[in-house]
Amino acid sequence: MIPATPIRSIALDDLDAPALAEAAVLLRSGGLVAFPTETVYGLGADATNPAAVSRIFAAKGRPPTNPLIVHADGIDLARRCVAEWPKSADLLARRFWPGPLTLVLPRSRIIPDVVTGGRATVGVRVPAVAEARALIARVGRPLAAPSANRSNGISPTRAEHVSQDLNGRIDLILDAGPTAVGLESTVLDLTSDPPRILRPGPITADEIAEALGFPVLPSSPTVAIASPGPAAASPGLMAVHYAPRTPAIRIEPGESPPPSPTGALLAVIVVGGEPRDLSELEPCLRIDLPDPVAASKSLYDALHRCDSSEADRILIRMPPDLPPWVAIRDRLRRATAPAEPGRAPGIRYDREDPRSYR
Ligand code: TXA
Ligand code: MG
Repeated sequence: MIPATPIRSIALDDLDAPALAEAAVLLRSGGLVAFPTETVYGLGADATNPAAVSRIFAAKGRPPTNPLIVHADGIDLARRCVAEWPKSADLLARRFWPGPLTLVLPRSRIIPDVVTGGRATVGVRVPAVAEARALIARVGRPLAAPSANRSNGISPTRAEHVSQDLNGRIDLILDAGPTAVGLESTVLDLTSDPPRILRPGPITADEIAEALGFPVLPSSPTVAIASPGPAAASPGLMAVHYAPRTPAIRIEPGESPPPSPTGALLAVIVVGGEPRDLSELEPCLRIDLPDPVAASKSLYDALHRCDSSEADRILIRMPPDLPPWVAIRDRLRRATAPAEPGRAPGIRYDREDPRSYR
């Protein structure tokens, strides 16, 4: 039997918590520790230790070509992970760090190939949770950390979500309660000119443009691009499939819900809608997320709850196509991407593949 992964609580602001010391010892010896950030829980390993980083890919079932974000406790350590530190990086780091912005820059020699899937660039960020920064400081090295879920699963915003997905596959879970922001960081490519948003997130294109004094390229809406392999010549054939296990269907504002099979149990999530919206349905679970901040914080928890309910399908009322909802619409499109008709059985469609953000 696989031993259960221990979960240790850390009280708010207890930067001397014994659990942090235990976690640092594990990380320094090549272990895997899930830790809280303001966005989602991360699955951390010493970013300078290739064997430790390989264990992340194994635990998540993540394709080795999908690069990991490296977490630092401040600008100094972040700068050691990159080969160049342009003025734009400095401006953005000073404005938004610690916080949910990942900067993609040429990588330095301390970052091994396995972290970046062989790419010449690395994504770095400084998380806003003080305990996470204290942990990195204790380890004394940057931490590579993707979201702490199985590849293709829903990102974790609570320690329990991590445990449901990765119990027995990792060494320790640090629990600091639900995450405050709830959606993954904005990923900004500073090696392109102008900079380009690869993944929309809590920091918007407008906020970045304002800090820089010039516009950046917004993320393109989900474009499905083929993974390497025999079918690679058919962009669109291998659409990103970023879904709960329960089939999830999106309904755009103004659209009516599709007819449900008789006897099907529904879960309904109404994002950015009115309380009366979809009130004709009789779901076994209904969750309303009326404003962007609450929706960001609770979206993944809502998806987790619907997925573990008895519902046979999840209907999601999409929020309007307006700036405050960009990142949430992005994640919901991925969560409801239909499985490709006629796709070859056994092929995994990776919602985290960076090509899907191009
Ligand atoms: O908020 C977050 O970013 C969370 C917390 C734990 O920090 N992390 C996270 O990591 O969401 P992950 O691995 O689930 O998503 C990282 C995204 C992926 O889409 C990955 O392809 C992209 O960032 N990425 C990482 N490094 C990159 C690079 N060098 N170039 C392009 N994309 C990169
Ligand atoms: Mg992820």
